[in-house]
Amino acid sequence: MRGAPEPSAEPAGCIETLREGLRQLARQSASRTSFAEDLQALLQDGGVCTTTTVLSPGSRLAATLASRPAADAVSPAPLPVAIPLSFGEQTLGALRLEGVASAWRDPEVLGRLAVEVAACLAYQQARWALGERVKELSCLYAIAQLGDQGGSLEETLFTIARLLPFAWQHSDACLARIVLDGRTLGAPRSVGEVATQAAPVLVDGVERGRVEVAYARVFPQAEEGPFLREERNLIDEVARQVGQLVHRRAAEEERAALAERLRHSERLASVGRLAAGVAHELNEPLGAILGYTQLVQKASPLPEQSAADLDRIVKACLHAREIVRNLLLFARQVPPRLVPTDLNVVVHEVLHFMHGRCERAGVQVILRLEPDLPPIPADAAQLQQVLVNLVANAVQSMPAGGSLTLSTRSDSVEVAMAVADTGLGMRDDVRTRIFDPFFTTKEVGQGTGLGLAVVHGIVEAHGGRILVSSSLGQGSTFEVRLPFGRREAVLP
Ligand SMILES: Nc1ncnc2c1ncn2[C@@H]1O[C@H](COP(=O)(O)OP(=O)(O)OP(=O)(O)O)[C@@H](O)[C@H]1O
Ligand SMILES: [Mg+2]
Repeated sequence: MRGAPEPSAEPAGCIETLREGLRQLARQSASRTSFAEDLQALLQDGGVCTTTTVLSPGSRLAATLASRPAADAVSPAPLPVAIPLSFGEQTLGALRLEGVASAWRDPEVLGRLAVEVAACLAYQQARWALGERVKELSCLYAIAQLGDQGGSLEETLFTIARLLPFAWQHSDACLARIVLDGRTLGAPRSVGEVATQAAPVLVDGVERGRVEVAYARVFPQAEEGPFLREERNLIDEVARQVGQLVHRRAAEEERAALAERLRHSERLASVGRLAAGVAHELNEPLGAILGYTQLVQKASPLPEQSAADLDRIVKACLHAREIVRNLLLFARQVPPRLVPTDLNVVVHEVLHFMHGRCERAGVQVILRLEPDLPPIPADAAQLQQVLVNLVANAVQSMPAGGSLTLSTRSDSVEVAMAVADTGLGMRDDVRTRIFDPFFTTKEVGQGTGLGLAVVHGIVEAHGGRILVSSSLGQGSTFEVRLPFGRREAVLP
């Protein structure tokens, strides 16, 4: 625009120059706020006037001018001259020109100038708004894509928080974070923040956190403090998407855990079928060996050595029968007889005959039983078996003594019974295999590895579940949760 015509030049030529200048301005300028200043410089350079102001539609002058008919656009009064800027139905503001050269006081020329400026402003605003929309949509698109990708939930939320500032108007001074369950992912809060925009993250109707965007510098007022209406819509939408993402990830984790349990159960079921077949086959010959041995024992007199040998045979048979019984229990060949059962009674009965064993092992027993525990439909004998196996394991895990805590509690859907020890604990690779039949870390002859497999079989037959937590060198807790209402199965 340098070297523009003199004020006395042909107005139509000036308008052409001005139009071209304004178009350039509209193409180059990226920000609405800097437009008025640029326009002023342009108009000055073009020699049209000495100072200009684009007044916002909110101002009183703009409103008055906007209501005038177009033909009356130019004030006949002395300078300065104010021209309303309208585009279609929209009132964009008013242009105030000071020191307008006399050659420019033609109402028609100034009217055309107003049309040009208004068109440029409208274009500028539309382009700016489009740019903002593109930023917002790109942000939402990126979030949607991130949600479909792998990675942990925290990593994903962290990346979303890093993306957010790019969608806000003043990105360079923008800080964003997502707070979920008290954890902050993204930019930490800082004292220099002067304005914050936030939206709650709802997961299944429960507020679990917030999405926050903050400015570290003061910016001009917009619709919501320094924030735009579109940015409010965007942050609400981002918070909604984060809520959905958290919900979806929880559902996926739940599904994966269920699938793993299903796989495990299938494996156990097939081992169980095999075990049950073998157990049935062994039961009969075992019974025969035991029966005939006992007959021979009765045939007296027997040499001392033979009597002792027969005793050993009987003991071995009884041991083998115990294993067969465990196999059948594990394979769920003995369906539970469900009658209202008080878990506190089960605990007391088991403790009655395990107390001596605990004492001998230097294990102190602590009871934390919920009074008035509601009864559940269960097979008391089978639950005793569960508790005996858990207590036996707990005692074995405390070779130098320790304490064993037996507790019960209930909520609206389940009754729980927990066995906690202060023993050796388990490594992760052991913990993942403890329910596998015949898995044992004990020395040969010390354990068959069927104890927890039996526990698993019984608990599952009751529609319940077992939660295990353990830390090496500190101890383990096994919690059995049984439902009030008999579920057909815990697996889908
Ligand atoms: N309370 C516990 N503390 C530490 N490890 C445990 C505990 N309970 C179970 N385990 C681990 O789980 C394995 C499997 O236990 P499970 O009761 O099935 O078999 P076992 O005790 O080895 O043999 P069995 O019970 O047939 O005599 C154990 O060998 C042990 O490694
Ligand atoms: Mg055991």
